[in-house]
Amino acid sequence: MDKPTQTTVLITGANAGIGLALATRYAGEGAAVIATCRNPAGADDLKALAASSGERVRILPLDVANEVSIASLKRTLGDEPIDILINNAGMNLQPKNQVVPENWMTVMRVNALGPMLVAQAFRDNLVMSSQKKLVAITSILASISTARDGNFAYRQSKVALNMGMRVLSRDWADDGVLVGLLNPGWVGTRMGGDYFWITADECAEGLSLRIAELSPANSGVFQDYRGVVSRW
Ligand SMILES: NC(=O)c1ccc[n+]([C@@H]2O[C@H](COP(=O)([O-])OP(=O)(O)OC[C@H]3O[C@@H](n4cnc5c(N)ncnc54)[C@H](OP(=O)(O)O)[C@@H]3O)[C@@H](O)[C@H]2O)c1
Repeated sequence: MDKPTQTTVLITGANAGIGLALATRYAGEGAAVIATCRNPAGADDLKALAASSGERVRILPLDVANEVSIASLKRTLGDEPIDILINNAGMNLQPKNQVVPENWMTVMRVNALGPMLVAQAFRDNLVMSSQKKLVAITSILASISTARDGNFAYRQSKVALNMGMRVLSRDWADDGVLVGLLNPGWVGTRMGGDYFWITADECAEGLSLRIAELSPANSGVFQDYRGVVSRW
């Protein structure tokens, strides 16, 4: 019998919160994890994970808002197949009820433009893999039909992210690429704050199940970590 091939997972923003929980989960399942973050030197939790995971977790630098950084990672990885590419990195900037141009542009760059540039840079790596799964961690705050309560830059950035990923789910379907557009719920992380529904580990469990279930039928569908379809 053929030995099952090892799944390769690339995660952005893997040093903290949901990204770290996903890296931990996939490493525990035996995947090869390319754990990227802005500052590998300061990524103590990720370094501890790498140290306890044999050779399965590689920590590489990536700032998703920086095209030079994306190009550098692409050079490092070359033509290595990536089965699951998770655009997890994201940010919010206060103030909540005002539009401050510099903050707005920064949030858009990280949350909306970054995932598109990362997807574009690693498209060939996805297409040459066996699973071909592109994932974005979005938010229920991207839901236009339920929108209220400020958070302009963050909401607008996640709406733009949703549109970009939805388009890729159609445009890249002929190459077999499946796109997960996953709302993680309200999660106990630096971004989620002190009040939350689920821990990062519970969230990562749900997200990994949804990613495992990705198929042409649900590619590009906006859904949450439980598989409940979210309203656009
Ligand atoms: N927590 C929630 O309740 C919740 C709800 C809905 C959606 N989300 C989404 O879930 C994702 C993960 O958030 P989280 O809750 O885990 O927040 P978090 O703990 O604040 O982690 C955010 C991660 O994104 C990274 N990051 C930010 N800007 C980056 C950049 N330019 N390049 C690379 N990495 C960057 C951070 O790195 P640094 O440590 O270097 O800053 C960190 O690793 C985000 O996309 C967020 O919008 C979270």
